[in-house]
Amino acid sequence: MKIIAINGSHRKGKNTAALLNTVLEEAATLGAETELLELTDYNIKLCLSCNKCLGKTQCSITDDDMAGIGEKMLAADGIVLGSPVYWANVTTLMKNFMDRTRYMHAVKNMLSGKVGAAVTNAGLMHGGQEWTVQIMEYFMQAQGLHVVDTRDQNGPILDSGVHGSLMAGIKDGKVAWWRSAVDNELNVTACKQLARNMSKLITQLSTK
Ligand SMILES: Cc1cc2nc3c(=O)[nH]c(=O)nc-3n(C[C@H](O)[C@H](O)[C@H](O)COP(=O)(O)O)c2cc1C
Repeated sequence: MKIIAINGSHRKGKNTAALLNTVLEEAATLGAETELLELTDYNIKLCLSCNKCLGKTQCSITDDDMAGIGEKMLAADGIVLGSPVYWANVTTLMKNFMDRTRYMHAVKNMLSGKVGAAVTNAGLMHGGQEWTVQIMEYFMQAQGLHVVDTRDQNGPILDSGVHGSLMAGIKDGKVAWWRSAVDNELNVTACKQLARNMSKLITQLSTK
């Protein structure tokens, strides 16, 4: 079982990466081979909207790193997308990455049948996390992935993907902040449950 995470944060190794690593670490304890891809490490040119991908399963842009990322996605059983909230949306890096995967979707859904999940982190408590997760989940559904969330019949009440926040609340009239998204046990619990749900579905699909 191979699970990769793709981080759209413009800051490598920060909160979104920490949440994604929490998912991957839990997946590894369940036997998964894991890898975190930081999009900031890759040269991904803008989609040209040339529409050549409507006729063939290859992007017309070949002099950048997108094909290599696509190979890793095709080799994975599970894909976790992570993006911080930027203006109640995914980051520019994540959106550009999504645009460039159209060659895996336009002729046929090459990622169909894989398992997907979404993770976000925002500064504010209600800073657009739900929209951001929905945007990533919609993208994966359109690509034919089975999207899992953090629901667990026997565990704490969680719901959709991971909706991290750095805002911890108000204390003595002042906003209190988490130092890191993974200092909040709620986020860690959600990330671990996401990994368990992914692993369970991947196993179920592979034994069908
Ligand atoms: C351009 C930009 C836009 C942002 N927009 C929002 C926003 O709409 N809502 C919010 O709560 N936080 C917003 N933030 C804060 C980030 O979501 C937050 O700092 C997050 O932890 C960054 O993820 P990272 O630590 O992985 O880089 C924004 C940050 C940047 C740089």
